[in-house]
Amino acid sequence: MEFKLSTSELTTLRGDLVVIGCFDAALQSGKQAADIKLEKGDEGAAFDRLFEGELLRTLRTERFKGKEGESRLLFSAGKIPARYLLAVGLGEKKDLSVGTLKRVGAVIAREAKGIKAHSIGCVIQRESIAGLSPQKRTQALVEGMILGSYQFNRYRGDRKELDSSLKEVHLLTTIPAKALEQAIQTGKAIGESTCFARDLCNTPSNDLTPMKLAREAEAMAKREGLTFRLLEKKDLQREKMGAFLAIAQGADEPPVLIHVSYRPKGKPTTNVALVGKAVTFDTGGISLKPPKDMREMKCDMGGGAVVLSTMQAIARIKPQVAVDAYIPSSENMPDAKAIKPGDIVRARNGKTIEIISTDAEGRMLLADTLSYASERKPDYMIDLATLTGGAVYALGEIYACLVGNDQQLVDRLLKASKETSEYAWQLPLEKQYLKGLTKGPADLVNAGGGGAQTITAALFLSQFVDETKWAHFDIAACAWTNEETPLSTKGGTGAMVPTLVQFISSL
Ligand code: BES
Ligand code: ZN
Ligand code: ZN
Repeated sequence: MEFKLSTSELTTLRGDLVVIGCFDAALQSGKQAADIKLEKGDEGAAFDRLFEGELLRTLRTERFKGKEGESRLLFSAGKIPARYLLAVGLGEKKDLSVGTLKRVGAVIAREAKGIKAHSIGCVIQRESIAGLSPQKRTQALVEGMILGSYQFNRYRGDRKELDSSLKEVHLLTTIPAKALEQAIQTGKAIGESTCFARDLCNTPSNDLTPMKLAREAEAMAKREGLTFRLLEKKDLQREKMGAFLAIAQGADEPPVLIHVSYRPKGKPTTNVALVGKAVTFDTGGISLKPPKDMREMKCDMGGGAVVLSTMQAIARIKPQVAVDAYIPSSENMPDAKAIKPGDIVRARNGKTIEIISTDAEGRMLLADTLSYASERKPDYMIDLATLTGGAVYALGEIYACLVGNDQQLVDRLLKASKETSEYAWQLPLEKQYLKGLTKGPADLVNAGGGGAQTITAALFLSQFVDETKWAHFDIAACAWTNEETPLSTKGGTGAMVPTLVQFISSL
C-alpha cells in the first residue's frame, strides 16, 4: 500500500473513494437526539454542497451518529469525481486516541475492500485534535489501514479475488510533506511488521518448521540490512544448552537458535536484547495436550514472530539503539526419543531441572536463551512467549501479562503500550511462589503445581537472567484471536510489535 501526500482538494480527487470523518453528534451538542454535523476541516461541508444537501440528509435519515467504528458508504452518482464517499464515525472528540484512529483506519480499509477500491483519499487537518498532533494521527491512521487490510489468503485458490485491492492512499493536507513523511514511514513500518508477525503465526507448522523460520529470518535480515546468525544443533550442544535440547530431542526437525542484530550508525544509547519463544508446534510432548488445546498450537512461535517482526520495523525506523534478537525454535513432539516426565537435565547456567511436564517446554527453550543473551550484558532484556494457558484465565484475550525484575523497565513498557493503545498489565514476580519450583530432586522443577501459572513460569525464567534488567510478556492469550477484532482477522494478531517499537524508539 502506497501513501501519497498532496495539497490538492479532496473534492477534486478522482479515486474510487473519498473519506470524511464525523465526531459523535449527540455528545457534541450535549443532546441525546442531536443530528450529525459535517466538518469544514475535512471537506465534509464542501461535499454536502456538491451533493446538493443530499449527503447530510442521507446521514440524518439513516441515523448516522458518528459513533466510533460507524460508517456509511454513498455512491457518488457523478456528483463528485470519486466513485464513492465514505463517512466514518470518530466517536467523542475529547476521547480521540491513537487507538480510535487505528480502528478508524481499519474500518476505512475494510469498506474500501468491499467496493474493490484501488485508490482512496482523506484529509489530514493541520491542527492538533484532542492533544493529538497531525503526525500522531497520520501514523495511527496509516497503521490502522494496513492492519485492516490484512488477510491470510496464501492457501486459497481464489486469493486473487479475496485479497484487498487497495493500493493507493492519498493524504491531502496543507502541512508541508516533510513534516508528515516520517509519520507515514513509521506507521507503515509498524503496520507491515505486525502483518509479518501475523503471517508467521498463521502459517501451519508443516510449512514453518524451525529451519524454515530461520530461512524467513535470514531473508528478512538480508532484505532489511540486519545481521543474521544461526546456531544449529551442534552449536547448541557446544553452548551446553541442555534445557533447550531436551525439548528438541523428541522432534525430527532440528532445533535452531536464530540471532538477528541491528546496530545504529554511531554509538548506541542503549543495548536491548529481545528473546522470543518459537515452538513451531506444541503437542505437549509425552505430556500430550488434549485435542481441544492443541488446535492453535501452530501459533506457539508467536513470541519469536513478534520479536522478528519488531526487528524488521527497527531496521526501517533506525533508532539510536543496539538491538539483538534471540529466537530459540523447536517442535515439541512425543516420540521414542522424547524427554519424559521425571527426567532431569542440566541447563546452560549449570542449574538442574526436573521435567515434571513436557508441556512446560517454552520455559526450557527460554531458560538457555535468556542465559546466553544475558551473558552479553544488555542494558535491558525483554522476552515474549505464548507461555501459559494461565494468561488467558488471568486477563483474557486482550491483555498481555507483563512481569519483570526491574520496575523502571516494566513502567517504561507499560507507558509504551498505552502510547500505542495496546494492552499490557503487570503481574507480580512474587518470590514466595518460588517454593513450588524448588522442591524436587533437582535445583528446579519446570512446572509448579497450584495456581498463578503465569507468575511461576516467570519466576522460573527469572532464574536464568542473572543480574540483567529483564521483563517478560506472556502473550499466550493476545497473540491469537478466535474472533475477528476491529484491527485483526481471526488468527495471529502480532500484538506487542507496536509496543516494543515504541519502547525501543524512546530510549
Ligand atoms: N504453549 C503453551 C501455552 C499456551 C496455552 C499458549 C494456550 C497459547 C494458548 C505452553 O507450552 C503450555 O503448554 N503451558 C502449560 C504449562 C503447564 C504444563 C505448567 C499450561 O499453561 O498449561
Ligand atoms: Zn506446552
Ligand atoms: Zn508451548
